[in-house]
Amino acid sequence: MSLTVLVTGAASGIGRAIASRFLAEGKRVAAVDIDRAALERARQESWSDAGERLLLLDADVAQPDAAEAAVAETVKNLGRLDVLVNNAGITGGPRATKLHETSVEDFDHVCAVNVRGVFLMCRAALPRMLDQKCGVIVNIASVAGFVAFPGRAAYSASKGAVMQLTRSIAVDYAAVGIRCNAVCPGMIDTPLTHWRLEQPELRAQVVERIPQGEVGTAADVASAVWFLSGVDARYMNGSALVVDGGYSSI
Ligand SMILES: NC(=O)c1ccc[n+]([C@@H]2O[C@H](COP(=O)([O-])OP(=O)(O)OC[C@H]3O[C@@H](n4cnc5c(N)ncnc54)[C@H](O)[C@@H]3O)[C@@H](O)[C@H]2O)c1
Repeated sequence: MSLTVLVTGAASGIGRAIASRFLAEGKRVAAVDIDRAALERARQESWSDAGERLLLLDADVAQPDAAEAAVAETVKNLGRLDVLVNNAGITGGPRATKLHETSVEDFDHVCAVNVRGVFLMCRAALPRMLDQKCGVIVNIASVAGFVAFPGRAAYSASKGAVMQLTRSIAVDYAAVGIRCNAVCPGMIDTPLTHWRLEQPELRAQVVERIPQGEVGTAADVASAVWFLSGVDARYMNGSALVVDGGYSSI
């Protein structure tokens, strides 16, 4: 039976590229997103030949019932769950703000999606993986998990928490054949970052800080997820794979 992968935040940017990569490799994909219309658009534009290997599910990963249902629907329709990719994430309000200007609502919302969402999806998926005695989890964290992004305290804190959830799962489940790793992208060109990268001056400022001299693509991140999901990464557990063109090495 072919590998089954659940990708959250699959309707856009990095998640969409991850879903596309697994589909192109012949795997079965449950594409989960809070935005049903965007999922349908992605199917029309990129996944039209996937047929029954693709399942679209609208769910808010921050809601316990929705997370449980997404995993249950995946197992029911696609047979099993081999790889969970926790990619859904938000940066917070449109404007970067220092901590004392950040609203409690904004902080809670960022943590609800980026941390609670990862916790809930793992909590729903792990019992299935335990039954199967194998499974892989890949969490999309960020270089903001180890270097702070100016004006994004909630986001940076949330991604640090994702790294620690990753290590905790690695420690608690390694002995039963479940691996958990994080991918930490730097600046990647997606709808999340378009507003900045579309402005030549801002783009130049960003690129200047990246040793490789270019922003990354969503496909670059998908390649790292593909690697961590497979047997070539069989001895990787609790690690953070950085995909940032050298940004965090300065
Ligand atoms: N783009 C970058 O430069 C960059 C860098 C580092 C880390 N990341 C991380 O990569 C991940 C994907 O980012 P992206 O750039 O592709 O963003 P994006 O905004 O293009 O896509 C995010 C997707 O997640 C979905 N989503 C948001 N909240 C959700 C929820 N509660 N439940 C289910 N789905 C939800 C959105 O509808 C959207 O389709 C995020 O975790 C982000 O923090 C991105």
